[in-house]
Amino acid sequence: MKIAIIGGGSAYTPGLIEGLLKIRHEVPWTEICLMDIDRDKLKVVSAIVTKIVREADASAHVTTTLNRVEAITGSAFVLCQIRVGGLAGRVLDEKIPLKYGVIGQETVGPGGFAMALRTLPVMLEIARDIEKHAKEAWLINYANPSGMVAAVLAKFTQIKAVSICDVPIGIQYFLADAMGVPHHQVKLDYVGLNHLGWFRRIFLKGEDITPYIHRMVQSQDILSLLPSSDEKTVEETKMALRIYEKTKVIPSPYLQYYYLTRESLLKQQQERQTRGEVVQAIEKELLSHFAEVVEADDVRLWKSRGGAWHAELMVNILSSIHNDKGEEYIVNVINQGCVPGMAEGACVEIPCIVDKRGARPMPVAAPSLDMLGLMQVVAAYEALTVEAALEGSYKKALLALNLNPLVPSLEVAKQILDAYIESHTGQIRLS
Ligand code: G6P
Ligand code: MN
Repeated sequence: MKIAIIGGGSAYTPGLIEGLLKIRHEVPWTEICLMDIDRDKLKVVSAIVTKIVREADASAHVTTTLNRVEAITGSAFVLCQIRVGGLAGRVLDEKIPLKYGVIGQETVGPGGFAMALRTLPVMLEIARDIEKHAKEAWLINYANPSGMVAAVLAKFTQIKAVSICDVPIGIQYFLADAMGVPHHQVKLDYVGLNHLGWFRRIFLKGEDITPYIHRMVQSQDILSLLPSSDEKTVEETKMALRIYEKTKVIPSPYLQYYYLTRESLLKQQQERQTRGEVVQAIEKELLSHFAEVVEADDVRLWKSRGGAWHAELMVNILSSIHNDKGEEYIVNVINQGCVPGMAEGACVEIPCIVDKRGARPMPVAAPSLDMLGLMQVVAAYEALTVEAALEGSYKKALLALNLNPLVPSLEVAKQILDAYIESHTGQIRLS
């Protein structure tokens, strides 16, 4: 059984491989094919991954290629973690809006819009390759913007696909760990879009324990319970707590950009570096660390990119599909009546049953009007962005960006859009 990883040169790959090794008793893969367009990163990452796999199990092996069709052909699963334009593209996505007094974030606001314009056409090409060369294969996608990618795959392709994000599972596992209970015993009534959602109720072994969780959030020092003390996690949690204090609903950390817009912007403007630049440095350091580990020939030393549950979500979903487990995960699906009040055809992020038929939405309670309003506007912005990206339409792109709640006017939308087209040379093509 072959598994392809598109974007295999990512610093996340060794963690993912470790996850895939852990589930080998239930998903008996024999080959992992790493594909990337960046020859240098692929070389470094495949060297460490080859060692990790070789030490763990001699019956499995790693192959590499720069050719996407070669990677996809014969694969049962295609795992996708591409970043079109690389981290340099992310830095531009985040920096340009700041010049115009608008939030600069990789997946939210103009940054996510620019990322979508670059990414969606490529995701469609990947899907076409799967349709042609491995039509029975499952695509499990992490590439952002994950919600818009899900919409493209569902509406414009025939492939079997699931598009995921590690934010909901991060909250689920965090709450389970804070209570000292097994992860799977905690279930969430979450509703929203990707990177825009609310954890409305929490269940433990089927019992609604929301009041208990609220008391815990209010009375305990949540910051001391965090799985990681890195600055990003701490800052995000502080902002989420500020929102919680006012709304009494646990927010996705990404809601800070919509609820605390001015403050988030001010913080970004005061930072010495954008997040993209910080991550560039992290990646550089990790790649040289991987090379050192290979050189020292001791894979026990390797450090991961972080994102505690990143790999686990991916491999759990893979196994739930492969073994027809029907486990529950919060993923991105098209709304076909599952979210009351929400536009049909919008891509929503909600609890789903995942089995060999894919992700099937579970019924969710209607979002309150404040949630629904924001979801509807952002879903309309996303739908129009998808059209703009796939049709290459400048007019639709401009109207989409203007619709984004973080963009103040058509004039600013135009300035940002034009700056993106100019600086992402050749990567955003609109007419
Ligand atoms: C979370 C999100 C991902 C996003 C990542 C960025 O995990 O769910 O979609 O890509 O954060 O993290 P970074 O460390 O690159 O800023
Ligand atoms: Mn995500």
